[in-house]
Amino acid sequence: ETSDVLTFYVNGSKIVEKAADPETTLLSYLRRKVGLTGTKLGCGEGGCGACTVMVSKWNKDKERIEHLAVNACLARLVSVHKCSITTVEGIGSVRTGLHAVQERISKFHGSQCGFCTPGIVMSMYALLRNQPVPSLENIESALQGNLCRCTGYRPILSAFQTFTKENSGCPMGAKCCKNKDNQNSKSVYGNKVYFISWSPDEISNRFVEPHSANQVCFKQYDGTQEPIFPPELLMS
Ligand code: FES
Ligand code: FES
Repeated sequence: ETSDVLTFYVNGSKIVEKAADPETTLLSYLRRKVGLTGTKLGCGEGGCGACTVMVSKWNKDKERIEHLAVNACLARLVSVHKCSITTVEGIGSVRTGLHAVQERISKFHGSQCGFCTPGIVMSMYALLRNQPVPSLENIESALQGNLCRCTGYRPILSAFQTFTKENSGCPMGAKCCKNKDNQNSKSVYGNKVYFISWSPDEISNRFVEPHSANQVCFKQYDGTQEPIFPPELLMS
């Protein structure tokens, strides 16, 4: 099948592009044509990850949807035919409500100048779409292509460790105040006290317990509530 027309989706909206310039990158198209400037131009050569977006596509051979974190500065627009693109604007905002990835990186002070943040958020988001409960190794590997000049990475990793089972959503790990073996110790991280637990009977309540102002709480992440892949692109 050959065609001069590109069809793809950006944040759930269908785009039909009849005059795609073969040299246009996905990044410049998103920023200049679609007007989505959350995706940043850093190095422009695949080295920094500031331009990371999620590209989802139907894999015919494996018969499943694949979610890929992609450097939009390297990807040509013509490569996203029949793909669904998700940018940082598509997962959440202060107006519509932050996505759990955005909320946690913010609450852990994992963003300073903020230039790298959309790319880091989208790398983590793409990982979660493939693996809703990732390991720390998965997270480190997913962030390998994202550079940050400001934070030193520790707060970013602390934020995203909260998605792993092992770290219980608490940077104090086994010393978490909600760990039943550790009820008398406090989980203090900086000047904040964490209340999150991961004992099996409390998982469903762990983000909705009452808490005081000096405690950090997060939205529970529910991977089943993510936007669906456009049905039109399924099986195509
Ligand atoms: Fe640096 Fe794309 S802008 S990797
Ligand atoms: Fe400044 Fe990451 S927050 S580059």
